[in-house]
Amino acid sequence: MVDLSCKYLGLELKNPLVVGSSGLTSSIDKLKTIAQMGAGAVVLKSIFEEQIKYEADKFLQSDNPEMKSWQKAFQGIVSKTEFYYDEAFEYLTNYAKEHTLNHYLSLISEAKKNISIPVIASINCSTQYDWQYFAKRIEEAGADALELNVYLLPSDFDKDGIENENVYFSIIEEVKKFVTIPVSLKTGYYFSSLAQTLLKLSETGIAGLTLFNRPYNPDIDIENLQVTSSNMFSSDTEYSHSLRWVALMSGRLKCNIAASTGIHNHQTVIKQLLAGADAVHLVSVFYKNPSHHFDVLPQILSGMENWMTSHNYKSISDFKGLLSRKNVHNPASYERVQFLRLFSSIE
Ligand SMILES: Cc1cc2nc3c(=O)[nH]c(=O)nc-3n(C[C@H](O)[C@H](O)[C@H](O)COP(=O)(O)O)c2cc1C
Repeated sequence: MVDLSCKYLGLELKNPLVVGSSGLTSSIDKLKTIAQMGAGAVVLKSIFEEQIKYEADKFLQSDNPEMKSWQKAFQGIVSKTEFYYDEAFEYLTNYAKEHTLNHYLSLISEAKKNISIPVIASINCSTQYDWQYFAKRIEEAGADALELNVYLLPSDFDKDGIENENVYFSIIEEVKKFVTIPVSLKTGYYFSSLAQTLLKLSETGIAGLTLFNRPYNPDIDIENLQVTSSNMFSSDTEYSHSLRWVALMSGRLKCNIAASTGIHNHQTVIKQLLAGADAVHLVSVFYKNPSHHFDVLPQILSGMENWMTSHNYKSISDFKGLLSRKNVHNPASYERVQFLRLFSSIE
């Protein structure tokens, strides 16, 4: 018998397979199936900053009886002074935000009541907004950890690298002031000096970094001359970028590393663990599975067990990081970006 258990974000996981944040982790029924199928942990669908603002606006306009009575009271105040107007508006907006947040909090508490694997909540932020407050409420609802999903596209010509990067540090700093549960950061790779920034981020006291989120990507329809979106789901060959950075960062960062993107089978899970990942996040593989979303979980787990048995590994720690940059004889294999000899031999 092999032991697949591991530690991730200070939590005990029975195996390193984490079902990543997505629509698949947004209802209690799916969460129960995920747990039954053997996942080590789950990251809930993110609560999005944009969504909160949108829902708050919608709620403020709604026919909800509770809201109607507030709107009536609000009208009275509006006719008084500007000062009261601002106060009342802020009060109503907070009330509406609370309404939206409560849906998410009840998913967390329901999950904690119904499944025994760790439940990691997720918030998507791009400004400092209300994250301290949201994070605190998420902690109180019982989440075991919190993943901050922050992915800024540095496309603003008026902002330099430092200004963009500071957003990440400020969000972490603000959130960490208010919660004691482990916090991890899921991010992209648009940093001017990726290695140094990841190291500095890992020194902020976060428990983990998830490398990397897979962004929404635009495409162009050349017949209808329209901008469209490209593949929403990853393919099983898309893991190399994450593998490279997991291998380069492993043993250097001050926090755990989770690999994300393109992990669709036990072979890739094992590659990421050999590169030094503490856990792996899987999403697209479930969406792409035509039969049953989550029956790939037991298949991946038994693939891992067979591989470990055939290599005489009894636990994950026997082989984790064995092929990280720190441990390989030829680190250039991870750092090389030009094919050199390979290119020159192809005619
Ligand atoms: C339909 C869908 C919804 C997603 N929603 C979220 C989300 O709410 N929060 C988040 O951090 N990532 C979200 N993601 C990104 C995934 O968690 C994951 O990082 C990405 O898909 C790469 O992993 P994969 O190759 O296994 O799909 C979503 C992905 C998909 C396909």
